Amino acid sequence: MLKREREREREIERERHTTWTLMCLLKKESCRYVSKAATKTQVEFDYDGPSMKTTVPGPRSHELTKQLGEIQNVGAINFFCNYEESRGNYLVDVDGNRMLDVYTQISSIPIGYNHPALLKLMANPNNLSTFVNRPALGILPPENFPDKLTESLLSVAPSGMTRVQTMACGSCSNENAYKAMFIWYRNKERGHNIPSDEDISTCMINQAPGCPDLSILSFMGGFHGRTMGCLATTHSKAIHKLDVPSFDWPIAPFPRLQYPLEEFTRENAQEEARCLEEVEDLIVKWRQKGKPVAGIVIEPIQAEGGDNHASPNFFRSLRNIARKHGCAFHVDEVQTGGGCTGKFWAHEHWGTDDPADIVSFSKKLLTGGYYHKDELQADKAYRIFNTWMGDPSKNLFLAEVLNVIRRENLLEEVTRSGKALLNGLYELQAQYPGILSRARGQGTFCAIDICDDATRNSILLKARDKGVLLGGCGDRSIRFRPALVFKEYHVHLFLNIFNDVLAQHK
Ligand SMILES: Cc1ncc(COP(=O)(O)O)c(C=O)c1O
Repeated sequence: MLKREREREREIERERHTTWTLMCLLKKESCRYVSKAATKTQVEFDYDGPSMKTTVPGPRSHELTKQLGEIQNVGAINFFCNYEESRGNYLVDVDGNRMLDVYTQISSIPIGYNHPALLKLMANPNNLSTFVNRPALGILPPENFPDKLTESLLSVAPSGMTRVQTMACGSCSNENAYKAMFIWYRNKERGHNIPSDEDISTCMINQAPGCPDLSILSFMGGFHGRTMGCLATTHSKAIHKLDVPSFDWPIAPFPRLQYPLEEFTRENAQEEARCLEEVEDLIVKWRQKGKPVAGIVIEPIQAEGGDNHASPNFFRSLRNIARKHGCAFHVDEVQTGGGCTGKFWAHEHWGTDDPADIVSFSKKLLTGGYYHKDELQADKAYRIFNTWMGDPSKNLFLAEVLNVIRRENLLEEVTRSGKALLNGLYELQAQYPGILSRARGQGTFCAIDICDDATRNSILLKARDKGVLLGGCGDRSIRFRPALVFKEYHVHLFLNIFNDVLAQHK
């Protein structure tokens, strides 16, 4: 046998062994059964519908919740999951219930559970060291890191941005983006980037001018995370903020629009003008107070705060206000990014090639981080820094997710499914006017209001027992956050079940 052939055969055997081992790990069962399941996974990526065996949470989930309750607060736990058996749009729980997932781990699963393309990536021996050795990326990055960033994150960089900083989660991304805005603002004020002796000494005792009294303007109803800086800009629910000291930073009203947007253009334009005026007033007021606004942060669609939309014109005007007053403009795409609105970034709907100075992301992008304009680059090492600064294995997955999105035209699919979903919601709203109102959405990023909080929660539980997982947001909304592989077929499946649930509430 030729040496080359022998090597190839050994390589195939190695690959086979790695797949086998990975599937064994995944299934934690006998390896014979496992390799059969591996083939099945490749062919049957999605199930053909929900299948319910118990109410949710079932007995096994109750048992595990009790066990975990001895270790942690379990108040938020819905049920325990069997991720090995979950596929595509379906999440399977530990009691064997299989549910159509229209909430996807708080909107963070881009292409469904156990996607074959991602499993294949895990099985490639060339990737093993990336999974096994997590580097301190800020000081010791791997050889392929610049290439992998280019292939993944930079290939979807927002217009006007060629720089990206990876981070771990959404809050961590925003927290560091805020720091970048403050550093940029102070250097702009100084006219150079050399701190004075007084700056250096006062910053060590949390005093100005080293720790300057700068602020970030955010919006009522906004959500940007739960860490200390982010929390000062989060105004969705009191439970997130209670008992935590915060900053005296300006909070502007976010437009409260009427839906469907096309039917209320005049009223909505007036409401947006009111909010924009308030933004300018606040910027001026806070400058007079000696706490100038270094940056404005906003979500393209307020998500956690209740799926509140604003028009492209509102965002373009806000961007202009930021520019006029010398504030950085930070668009938080942690929840809207990654394709769920039918464009890769929600801000692409605004029709401008200069949408922001900073765009932060996480969730469907699998890694956290933020893109930024060149001038927002921190000027010295360690100013924007932590141990991991992201995780290269997530960039590997992201590159593959992007391949799948392109290969399977998933943004077009999202637009198609989104239309079917919103039309279905309009129909249900007409059918159940006492329960439903304000259906709204962009792509599959849709929501609807329920008459009151108690009915909303009861509908969420009833839908779950019928095999559909949904999430709430705001005071009384239901938000729809399916994966990008949620097709029209799944929309109709969902609408039928949702209709049954609503009929019970009539
Ligand atoms: C718009 C937005 N920003 C920031 C965050 C915080 O992200 P994380 O929970 O990963 O810290 C979230 C989380 O839901 C979010 O929706």
